[in-house]
Amino acid sequence: MRTVYLNGEYLPETEARVSIFDRAFLMADGVYEVTSVLGGKLIDFEGHLKRLERSLNELDMQKPAAFDDLLEIHRELVRVNEIGDGLVYLQVTRGSDGDRDFVFPDPATTAPTLVLFTQSKPGLANSPQAEKGLKIISIDDVRWGRRDIKTVQLLYPSMGKMMAKKAGCDDAWMIEDGHVTEGTSNNAYIVRGNRIITRELSNDILHGITRAAVLRFAREAQMEVEERPFSIEEAKGADEAFVTSASAFVMPVVEIDGEGLGDGTPGPVAKRLREIYLEESLKKAI
Ligand code: PDD
Repeated sequence: MRTVYLNGEYLPETEARVSIFDRAFLMADGVYEVTSVLGGKLIDFEGHLKRLERSLNELDMQKPAAFDDLLEIHRELVRVNEIGDGLVYLQVTRGSDGDRDFVFPDPATTAPTLVLFTQSKPGLANSPQAEKGLKIISIDDVRWGRRDIKTVQLLYPSMGKMMAKKAGCDDAWMIEDGHVTEGTSNNAYIVRGNRIITRELSNDILHGITRAAVLRFAREAQMEVEERPFSIEEAKGADEAFVTSASAFVMPVVEIDGEGLGDGTPGPVAKRLREIYLEESLKKAI
């Protein structure tokens, strides 16, 4: 049985209890982070913590613990749960003031809820999916306007994955005003020649931590990076496509709405970026 962390305590997963009045349960009033673990070490940890801080600030939520304490909790959970490869999930909610009200509770009297748990994923970096590539569909983006905040409001992304599954595919890219915003749980890219194209940062997409690292490595490897919106038609005509996230790293896309890209197998740029990302981030893992 997993050991999880809840508000200062390490507990067996079946003994961790949160109030039914918790704001995340009633209002999706919470933010989260997912950090991958490879060889028992945390990948891009600092980036995830910085984004957590930003999400909390944007929602006027209290910081639940100091950076050093959060690092220590991540490490302790990885240790006690013997995670070689996997994920650490962290969630902060606005807590519970013992009732339901649209108005935020007073932070002086209502403490945030802090939850962390691990997910074991042996061989996470050697996923067979990376050899096959993803088949994706396109769907409308009907999410709210602050997608830069990593909230636990994940119903539409979940529905998007179900739509993809129903269509015999792996994931969905979301479209707004004729342009791709992002994947249900990842950032979206296309490749034309030596140029990597991905939507620029704004409130329309999550500012992916993997995205930041991959774009930096791409530029260092003399690849051209263009940050601008692209349509699904442009994507279907691209040489390659891929997605990035903490759980998938760099994952090639081989089919969009039933149309194969290139020769229908993962492209060289996505493959190379995956190698570089894994190699470089492992060097800095903590
Ligand atoms: N999702 N866009 C969305 C909508 C996401 O949910 C995610 C991550 C990303 C990629 O961000 P990062 O590279 O920082 O993981 C982009 C996580 C993995 C999840 O919800 O499980």
